[in-house]
Amino acid sequence: MIAKDEKDINGLKAAGKVCAQAMRLMMESAKPGVTTLELDQIGENFLKKEGAKSAPRVMYNFPGGTCISIAPVIAHGIPGEHVLQDGELINIDVSAELNGYFGDTGASMVVGTSKPEYDKLLEAAKSTLDKVLSVVRAGKPLNLIGKTVQQEANKYGYNPIFDLTGHGIGRQLHDKPSSVYNFHKPEDRRIMDNGLVLAIEPFLTTGQGHVVEKTDGWSLKTVDNTIAAQFEHTVIVTKGEPIILTL
Ligand code: CO
Ligand code: CO
Repeated sequence: MIAKDEKDINGLKAAGKVCAQAMRLMMESAKPGVTTLELDQIGENFLKKEGAKSAPRVMYNFPGGTCISIAPVIAHGIPGEHVLQDGELINIDVSAELNGYFGDTGASMVVGTSKPEYDKLLEAAKSTLDKVLSVVRAGKPLNLIGKTVQQEANKYGYNPIFDLTGHGIGRQLHDKPSSVYNFHKPEDRRIMDNGLVLAIEPFLTTGQGHVVEKTDGWSLKTVDNTIAAQFEHTVIVTKGEPIILTL
């Protein structure tokens, strides 16, 4: 969607904020011994308390309130009986609807004790998102996002995940523009308009950059079982710095 007025901006800010708060709470609660279902309930209960609804549940009938993915799964992991282990690389993704507006945020993290291999990937993925946010401007090509993700990923010695994209968001979880690619695609001639609301989510991997769906019909794991990391913010494109809604 295009955020047109203060009502839109404030509605989007409120939706983004509950997503960010739910995710923060879940990250703080992601300790060894906790099941992913328990973690999911912490997030979804917070959303409910704030008057928000889990977007994947209401939009897609996803079997969970949030997505919790355990490496090598990197997206759409289903919360369940899995007990979080010390040293596991996980991704938490929270998207929700509040008063007709949607927000979407995600982050990868290590449960308990990390190791240098994971820290390096997480730092690279985080700084890739920061770099992208610094180049997003009204009037620029939409694929500046993909070009920047790919450049940054390669700079750090990783690949982007070519199959996973960001997306427009706003009045729906997945709004126009549809695929916001995480790689350079010269034939993509779309321009970022002032007020455009985007969920920007670079995925970086040590592998070749492709995912496959598991037999549960949801979980997306790296095809080569390599590790991956994602960080996601919902933003409003402006003529200056974008407004980050999910900080
Ligand atoms: Co997300
Ligand atoms: Co998203």
